[in-house]
Amino acid sequence: MSKLQNRVAVITGGNSGIGYATAKKMKEDGAKVIITGRSEERVATAASELGVTGIVADVLDLNAMDSLVAKVKATVGNVDILFANAGTFLPTPVGQLSEEVFDTQMGINFKGAVFTTEKFEPILNDGASIINLSSVLAHAGMANGSIYSASKAALIAYTRSAATELASRGIRVNSVLPGPIDTPIYGKTGMDEEQLNGFAQAILNSVPLKRFGQAEEVAKLVSFLASDDAAFITGGEYTIDGGIIIHPLVS
Ligand SMILES: NC(=O)c1ccc[n+]([C@@H]2O[C@H](COP(=O)([O-])OP(=O)(O)OC[C@H]3O[C@@H](n4cnc5c(N)ncnc54)[C@H](OP(=O)(O)O)[C@@H]3O)[C@@H](O)[C@H]2O)c1
Repeated sequence: MSKLQNRVAVITGGNSGIGYATAKKMKEDGAKVIITGRSEERVATAASELGVTGIVADVLDLNAMDSLVAKVKATVGNVDILFANAGTFLPTPVGQLSEEVFDTQMGINFKGAVFTTEKFEPILNDGASIINLSSVLAHAGMANGSIYSASKAALIAYTRSAATELASRGIRVNSVLPGPIDTPIYGKTGMDEEQLNGFAQAILNSVPLKRFGQAEEVAKLVSFLASDDAAFITGGEYTIDGGIIIHPLVS
């Protein structure tokens, strides 16, 4: 039997990158998958390509999140897997940060993920699995990444306490911390092609495995954490980063 057979999985930001790859993997593993995103068109296109259900809901809009939960409950019932994946990366130098950039990154990456759990908690089955998509930058410094890093570090701290509380219902809560993964997120930062190429090369220089990861590789880890194979794993942090966290001084 497929390892996620008969499970209902909700993936925020499932129309692109890691969320999209995870929707594909979880569907292959037998789950009934619902993806969300901000754009009617992008969500509908991805849902049709993947053969899953797509529902538009901005994680920053708590009324939209209430309506998402109501629609999920009405169409598929309770939820077994919640993947808080929606995120944004807006590189900004210290000293040039606007309130808007701060609020958007903390809002989507931290508040959005927290309220994903908050809103879905009433319709999570006992024994459910929540996976929060953090980043290796929660533990590593990077120029222009201060608020992104802070938002992802906050999510790990939240995950530990949520795991502590939800354990009484058998609900497991874990964080996944990718390093550089080849997804459209970098093209949304506002950097031009030359800057993007320079940025990619600088990143590659600090990855011991000397490559970007693939969204499908993260999807396999997330699907594992969602499954019964990970039944004794909660409150954990799982890096998938080509070795960045080693911080090699000499390589
Ligand atoms: N790629 C990496 O190197 C990397 C490394 C570490 C962590 N991460 C994290 O991985 C997660 C997925 O990123 P990705 O690399 O797969 O990037 P991506 O391809 O840009 O996907 C991000 C997804 O989140 C959605 N999203 C953004 N803001 C949203 C909002 N307010 N409400 C609902 N959905 C929203 C996007 O929808 P739209 O189409 O509307 O933008 C998109 O579907 C993020 O949390 C990111 O921070 C990525």
